[in-house]
Parts: sequence; structure tokens; C-alpha cells
Amino acid sequence: MDFNRYFVVLFAILLCFFARSAKCRPFDHSRYRTLSQISASPCPAPEASAPVSDQSLSHSAAVFNVLSYGAFGDGVVDDTQAFKMAWDAACQADNSAVFLVPKHYSFMIQSAIFTGPCKSGLVFQIEGSLMPPDGPDSWPKNYSKRQWLVFYRINGMSMQGGGVIDGRGEKWWDLPCKPHKGINGTTLPGPCDSPVAIRFFWSSNLTVQQLKIKNSPQFHFRFDNCHDVHIDSLYIKSPAGSPNTDGIHVENSNDVNIYNSVVSNGDDCVSIGAGSYNVDIRNMTCGPSHGISIGSLGIKNSRACVSNITVTDSVIKHSDNGVRIKTWQGGYGSVSKVTFNNIHMDTVRNPIIIDQYYCSNKACLNQTSAVYITDISYTNIKGTYDVRSPPIHLACSDTVPCTNLTLYDIELFPAQGQKILDPFCWNAYGDTSTLTVPPVFCLMEGFPQLLPSNDVDKC
Ligand SMILES: *[C@@H]1O[C@H](CO)[C@@H](O)[C@H](O)[C@H]1NC(C)=O
Ligand SMILES: *[C@@H]1O[C@H](CO)[C@@H](O)[C@H](O)[C@H]1NC(C)=O
Ligand SMILES: *[C@@H]1O[C@H](CO)[C@@H](O)[C@H](O)[C@H]1NC(C)=O
Ligand SMILES: *[C@@H]1O[C@H](CO)[C@@H](O)[C@H](O)[C@H]1NC(C)=O
Ligand SMILES: *[C@@H]1O[C@H](CO)[C@@H](O)[C@H](O)[C@H]1NC(C)=O
Ligand SMILES: *[C@@H]1O[C@H](CO)[C@@H](O)[C@H](O)[C@H]1NC(C)=O
Ligand SMILES: *[C@@H]1O[C@H](CO)[C@@H](O)[C@H](O)[C@H]1NC(C)=O
Repeated sequence: MDFNRYFVVLFAILLCFFARSAKCRPFDHSRYRTLSQISASPCPAPEASAPVSDQSLSHSAAVFNVLSYGAFGDGVVDDTQAFKMAWDAACQADNSAVFLVPKHYSFMIQSAIFTGPCKSGLVFQIEGSLMPPDGPDSWPKNYSKRQWLVFYRINGMSMQGGGVIDGRGEKWWDLPCKPHKGINGTTLPGPCDSPVAIRFFWSSNLTVQQLKIKNSPQFHFRFDNCHDVHIDSLYIKSPAGSPNTDGIHVENSNDVNIYNSVVSNGDDCVSIGAGSYNVDIRNMTCGPSHGISIGSLGIKNSRACVSNITVTDSVIKHSDNGVRIKTWQGGYGSVSKVTFNNIHMDTVRNPIIIDQYYCSNKACLNQTSAVYITDISYTNIKGTYDVRSPPIHLACSDTVPCTNLTLYDIELFPAQGQKILDPFCWNAYGDTSTLTVPPVFCLMEGFPQLLPSNDVDKC
């Protein structure tokens, strides 16, 4: 029992109670059911709710503390309405506002969409902790099961504060429709939606930094149709066996920086989907995970364009893949201008992999069109690989070869034993300008004589 927290809450209730005769609203949760009932000015933030101390917050900013809007913060009471009201107020503020989720409190909120545009830039300061309802059975029937917290049409927001977001994913991962979670290790058919924890949609000029997020039911962060995004110092953690729990997913987005973050999870550390360009990833520590991935692209004959992606100065450990590009058969478009530079591998299966035969259900036919992969450079990639698969695997489409793959300063040794596995290449063209370990003799030099121009769509 946390007595400190108990007294803080008690103090807050008393403070409001005494102020009742004034214009202040007490903490009466029954009153927040309908928004129209709320007209009185909210109760001032109880003194016990730690003052905003973060130095990055300007002193002039107006603070919208969720406690002032009736949030309870015991991790049990549904605080959704209070969050919505605080959001509406902060979003309408003329000067830069701080939406505050205070320290020492834990807030349970339902799926919610925080919609902009807001009147000015906003700081979404998470110092305490946030969590959704616990599992699919407590998810309200009328809410989408695909997302929990959505930020929509926001321009100029910083989400930060050092707090913790707990996605409570366990019950979602164990649904019988998840891989091998049905009776006797089967996978039952049927809709299997699980919520992305934090989704930014049609937003720009965002900073997301200094937060811990764990156990998301699905992706931890998803950015789609966003631009000018700066991600820094996130700690993302889920079990290695948790399905589909990508750390940071970026799609249809551009000018995205992902820096200085640590991810361990059950799927890709960072994944980059169709329509993304100018993405810079640096100083990431991934693992266990499925590595840093571009794709999967081209599903159901779709067109995907991805270009100008750099991944530098990172560590990938105990992961199923290192740096991966994966595409389905039958797609269109291209992946171009990708640089993987200075990456340390520690016991990684497939440290360097291109897979143009990606198929999640084992029943995909080969097709003639493919996402064209070109101008991919791998430089200074060193460390050890898990000997269950070769360290370099470049499986390009039969009809559309990969071109201009360059490998430079590669040194990959088996994590166990002495046996060095040969790289695998299929229809892969490019150049190894230095001796690599292991040597990549299977790469074809130069450019293919015939690049079937009908099947190549350079975006
Ligand atoms: C779901 O139903 C609840 C209770 O009737 C209501 O308050 C809420 O606004 C509904 N949510 C959506 C997304 O329709
Ligand atoms: C980005 O947002 C910040 C506030 O977070 C604001 O000061 C800045 O002007 C915005 N930049 C653009 C280009 O909108
Ligand atoms: C699960 O496996 C056990 C032992 O093999 C078997 O007796 C049982 O019928 C199986 N259950 C179902 C639902 O398939
Ligand atoms: C890299 O990120 C880690 C956090 O994961 C941080 O502690 C370290 O200072 C960063 N290194 C650089 C050079 O920024
Ligand atoms: C590639 O992306 C970086 C940002 O990651 C950007 O600074 C650079 O201008 C882009 N290059 C091109 C050719 O667009
Ligand atoms: C698809 O093509 C690849 C490369 O030629 C081949 O190894 C694989 O067996 C083919 N798959 C099917 C399903 O035909
Ligand atoms: C090959 O790709 C590199 C970048 O990885 C680029 O600098 C170079 O111009 C490309 N070469 C050709 C012939 O397109």
C-alpha cells in the first residue's frame, strides 16, 4: 500500500471539498459522464500534484493538469473524460500550453482520439503513468480495437516527461487467434485486431522523447501520414515472444529522426512502411527483437516507394534479423538510397537480409512484378551471427533483380563454433569494394544487361 499516494489523493479531495462553496468543482466522477454538464471552472490543481519542474517547459506556459479536470489517477477509475476536457482546454489555449499527466499518479483511460489542430504548440507532459483497460474483455464494444491513444491533425507538439506508458498487452497476445495461442498450439481464424498503443496520424512537427513504454498489445508507436518527426530517448520494452509488438512503425511519413532509443520486443525494433522517405535512424539499441526493417512492402500487388533511409551507429543483439528489407511477390514501386552504416551485431540471425519472397502465410505464388531494390549500401557492419542462418542473405526477385548493392567493411563471425556460413545471393547485383568476412562471391558485378523496364517502377 502506497501511503504517500493515498494521502496525496486524500489531500486533493479535501482541498476541493473545502473549495466547494466557491466556484470550484469537487472531484465528483458521476458529473463527467456528459460534457454538457460541465460549465463551472475546474478545481485548481491540488498543491500536492508536483509542480512542473522540467526545465524545457517555459515558465509562462499555462499548465492543464488532468487532476484539475477531475482525473483520479488511481489506475482503476476511468479518467477518460478528464483527459478529454483537459485536452480541449489545452488545445484551445492561445499561448503554448502544457497538458500535464502528473507524477505519482496512474491513469486508466479508454481509447481516445486527441484531435487538433490546436491554437498553438503544445507540450504533452507525461510524468506519471498511463494505461488502457486491461485486455479485450474490458475494451468497450463500441471502440475500435485497432488503436488506443490517437493524436490526429496535430502540428507542433512535444510528448515527453519521463513517465511510463503501460500497454497491458498480455491478454491480447494470448488471444486464440494469435500465432500458436489456440487450443493445442493452433492459430484460430477470425478477426484479431489489437490496439496500437500510441498513434500519430496526419500530424507534423512532432517531438516524442524521454518516455518509457512497455507491453503494447500491438505496435508501441505508429506514425502515419506525418512529417517532421523527432523521436529521441525512448525506452520500449515487451517480451521477446509478444506478437506484432513493433517498437516504432513509420508509414507514409517523411523527415523522421529516430535517435538514442532502446527497444526490446517481439517484432521489429523499427519498421518502415510504404511512402516513407528521409528517415534518419541513429544510436538505437535493439534486442531481443526482429531488427530494423524496411517493409514488408508490396502486399496484395500494392505500390510502395521508400527512399533515403539511413541507419547508423546502432547495436542489434539477440535478434531474428539485423537490417532487413522485405517485400511481397507482386508489388510495384521501389526501395532506393538506403544506407546502413556502423552497426554492431551481437548473435543475430540474418544480420544482413533482403527478402523479396516475404510471405506470412506460406502460400504465396511467385509473380512477375516486384518492388525494385536499388542503391543500398552496407558499411562497417561487424559482430557475430547466430549460426542457424547465413549472415548475409540477398534474395531478390526472379524478374526484377536488386541493383547497386554495396558492401564495405563487413566482418561477421559465427557466435558459436568456427564454421563460417556462406552468404546467399539470388539475382543480386552490386559491389564489394573491400574484402568482407565472410567473402561475398555470390553478388553479381555491375548492372544486369536487361533490367525489365516494364516491371520496374522507380517511383
Ligand atoms: C461508446 O459508448 C459510450 C457509452 O454509451 C459513450 O460514452 C462513448 O462515447 C461511445 N464511444 C464511441 C467511440 O462511440
Ligand atoms: C514546430 O512546433 C514548435 C512548438 O512545438 C513551434 O515553436 C514551431 O514554430 C513549429 N514549427 C513549424 C515549422 O511549424
Ligand atoms: C489437444 O491435444 C490432446 C492430446 O493430444 C487431445 O487429446 C485433444 O483432443 C486435443 N484437443 C483439441 C481440441 O484438439
Ligand atoms: C546513445 O543512446 C543512449 C541511450 O540509449 C545514450 O545513453 C547515449 O548517450 C547515446 N549516445 C550518443 C553518442 O548520443
Ligand atoms: C535525405 O534525408 C535527410 C534527412 O534524414 C535529409 O537531410 C536529406 O536532405 C535527404 N536527402 C535528399 C536527397 O532528399
Ligand atoms: C519462387 O522463386 C524462387 C526463386 O526462383 C524459388 O526458389 C521458389 O521455389 C519459387 N516459389 C514458388 C512457390 O514457386
Ligand atoms: C550506387 O549507390 C550509391 C549509394 O549507395 C550511390 O552513391 C551511387 O551513385 C550508386 N551508383 C550508381 C551507378 O547508381
